[in-house]
Amino acid sequence: MEKIRRTKIVDLLQRKDWGAMVNVKGWVRTRRGSKQVNFVALNDGSTINNVQVVVDLANFDEEMVKQITTGACLSVNGELVESIGSGQAGEIQAREIEVLGACDTTYPLQKKGCSMEFLREIAHLRPRTNTFGAVFRIRHNMAIAIHEFFHQKGFFYFHTPIITASDCEGAGQMFQVTTKNLYDLKKDENGSIIYDDDFFGKQASLTVSGQLEGELAATALGAIYTFGPTFRAENSNTPRHLAEFWMVEPEVAFADLNELMDLEEEFIKFCVQWALDNCKDDLEFLNKMIDKGLIERLQKVVSTEFVRLPYTDGIKILEEAIAKGKKFEFPVYWGCDLASEHERYLVEEYFQKPVIMTDYPAEIKAFYMKQNEDGKTVQGTDVLFPQIGEIIGGSVREENYDKLIARINELNIPMKDMWWYLDTRKYGTCPHAGFGLGFERLLLFVTGMANIRDVIPFPRTPRNAEF
Ligand code: 4AD
Ligand code: MG
Repeated sequence: MEKIRRTKIVDLLQRKDWGAMVNVKGWVRTRRGSKQVNFVALNDGSTINNVQVVVDLANFDEEMVKQITTGACLSVNGELVESIGSGQAGEIQAREIEVLGACDTTYPLQKKGCSMEFLREIAHLRPRTNTFGAVFRIRHNMAIAIHEFFHQKGFFYFHTPIITASDCEGAGQMFQVTTKNLYDLKKDENGSIIYDDDFFGKQASLTVSGQLEGELAATALGAIYTFGPTFRAENSNTPRHLAEFWMVEPEVAFADLNELMDLEEEFIKFCVQWALDNCKDDLEFLNKMIDKGLIERLQKVVSTEFVRLPYTDGIKILEEAIAKGKKFEFPVYWGCDLASEHERYLVEEYFQKPVIMTDYPAEIKAFYMKQNEDGKTVQGTDVLFPQIGEIIGGSVREENYDKLIARINELNIPMKDMWWYLDTRKYGTCPHAGFGLGFERLLLFVTGMANIRDVIPFPRTPRNAEF
């Protein structure tokens, strides 16, 4: 076969230099046609769109043509010609075809319309479908948007450890990391495991959040963000929870509650606008095939002001709704941790806008949140989104050493593990604030996919670590 430099299909579909000899490589999506001429839809992952390869059967070896089956990988040399059919501007009149990889009938992606559940079982192949191709291209673009946003604003990308000995959220949902022989654990007289001889000489785990180390960086570099994998051993089998997910955590010195909320809102809007600007073809596909209201919802979010609602006012609204006959599964009272049905009522029915809820009861939030004067509430913020519920959790941090210690003692958090964190409050403490955005929750919103397992290539959930 003649050596011609490969053109990516995304670039080829822009070209209009009819008559040029080109090479494309990709996987067969479909093949149809007559005894004389076949039309092969080829996709190389560079775009949702396929290029049509026209194969005049008289010019090709019959045995080779038999191998042009769904899923097969081809290299095609041919002439770029103007397409007379509908669809793309150009197509390829094949001159030479090499089958790089044949694909037999056991290939599981033969027919269209496989269920999401089935595709999860073949997560090693699902990136080859239109839907997952679109989702993973958008995932890439959202990662770029995140770096772009913070870089433009002068935040530094700071790498926090994956392995840690502290539980940031204090929720005890950590996966342990050990090299100990689990069949032969040394224990003390109380039956507690002795970690002195473990790899790190202490009990270590996978991080649930980079925030604590992020605070160290923010109180030195001014404004930073982390973006990495986080792990939670919570046994939540829901469409919004993963055991391994990616989190974006900016942390800003000198920011107060209003500046925190401004940053949260500006950040999400920037990312959504980025998707609208940079992922047009993929969004149009998802809008057509997955969620008819998707693009309209994205456009609405970038153009509406988020509601800013103190928790106490939110509870009042929910109580009024109940008085008017609204039924919820879980009870509503001041101090309760809102269930997703409550959050969705506020966002989807009452305001019909994203809501930033603030000033939560201290009891339902983590130890590090700044305590309000009322002695009951803390300056925590959750950003609540239509369809998703909580997409961001953040807060102003308690920068006062004595108040922070008092809270740590109240909650019985082992102090000796926190000495380095407390040093920020001892040496030149400063007001600061930050938040964590669940990357996959953002992707759920931006793609319109219904299950968080379908916006990460290889989901980790309870009882599932395949691939
Ligand atoms: O609200 P969370 O637990 O907050 C923190 O971890 C803070 N340390 C963040 C900070 O202030 N720097 O988690 C933050 C976000 C949630 O709003 C949600 O979007 C996402 O992380 N999240 C999950 N996403 C997928 N699966 C899970 N199990 C998640 N748990 C939290
Ligand atoms: Mg939260």
